[in-house]
Amino acid sequence: MKKIVLSGMRPTGILHLGNLYGALSNWIELQNKDYERFYFVADWHALTTGFSNSTDIPQNTINMVVDWLAFGLDAEKNTLFVQSLVKEHAELFLLLSMITPVSWLERVPSYKDQIAQLGKSKTSNYGFLGYPVLMAADIIIYKAHYVPVGLDQVAHLEFTRELVRHFNHTVEKEVFIEPQPLLTEVPKILGLDGRKMSKSYDNAIYLSDTEEETAKKIKVMFTDPRRKRKSDPGVAKDCGVFMLHKIFTDKQKQNEIEKACSQATIGCVECKKMLIENLNNALKPIREKRNELLQKKDYVKEILIEGSKKASLKAKETMEEVRDAIFSKGRLG
Ligand code: TRP
Ligand code: SF4
Repeated sequence: MKKIVLSGMRPTGILHLGNLYGALSNWIELQNKDYERFYFVADWHALTTGFSNSTDIPQNTINMVVDWLAFGLDAEKNTLFVQSLVKEHAELFLLLSMITPVSWLERVPSYKDQIAQLGKSKTSNYGFLGYPVLMAADIIIYKAHYVPVGLDQVAHLEFTRELVRHFNHTVEKEVFIEPQPLLTEVPKILGLDGRKMSKSYDNAIYLSDTEEETAKKIKVMFTDPRRKRKSDPGVAKDCGVFMLHKIFTDKQKQNEIEKACSQATIGCVECKKMLIENLNNALKPIREKRNELLQKKDYVKEILIEGSKKASLKAKETMEEVRDAIFSKGRLG
């Protein structure tokens, strides 16, 4: 039996270069390995902190999956689905919540961090506290071995593992397996303002940007602050523009830029011009594919509906086992 890989993303809508060359390129890399793969849109998770924006979720789901596909995630090789179309996640979430100590949830680092960031009003709901329980259900219902995620999700995976041990111990049966995070190196990608690229900072570059918009953005992008004047030498590896060159420019040229930057023999304007060209060239086929898919939203929807049916089969199987383990063979239905 093939090992199972599973991951999910909240439906944030269109994806920026940080999402694409971070998480998504890891998913795409896994396509060529010998796993069974499930990737899903965590639309219920989007409600934990943003119930008031619920009407945007279907549109954001489609737009995000359009970007997945345009970037090269293959709907034939992976099962792509939507959390809310597989209701078994909710049943498992409910059952797990019966054995989850509230103190474990209050201890998850993102709990306090998010309250500090978003304020009490958006985070005082019970579903927000239960975020990690739903995430655990998402993962273990497929008996996933590996979960490709960023460092920020590792604590959630640890929580999942703890909950698996606790559940198996409680029902005295090895129903679930402990999933492992799959941490692959991701390139550091800064936004236009030198902070981490993020939708909420309004500093991101998107597939949906035209070539002209992209050029405009890069022209105003932060560079190494040491280079106040063109004659001041800089350190390329501290510069967000160079971080993008590392993705879009060939190795030899990168080395040249690094050297020229440190000797002040290249100006930032010229350096950016090269990046604009390389970046737009690399994104061109992806943007074309994206525009094509935007004309075929029903096709994208169909992929998600079919994928959700496939995922449901596996989820239903697991839930049979779970109900047996909890209620024993004499259960009512
Ligand atoms: N919490 C994840 C994030 O914010 C999204 C997510 C929900 C997820 N359920 C998951 C990721 C299960 C991996 C596996 O990015
Ligand atoms: Fe950044 Fe290029 Fe300017 Fe160096 S020359 S600071 S790498 S933009």
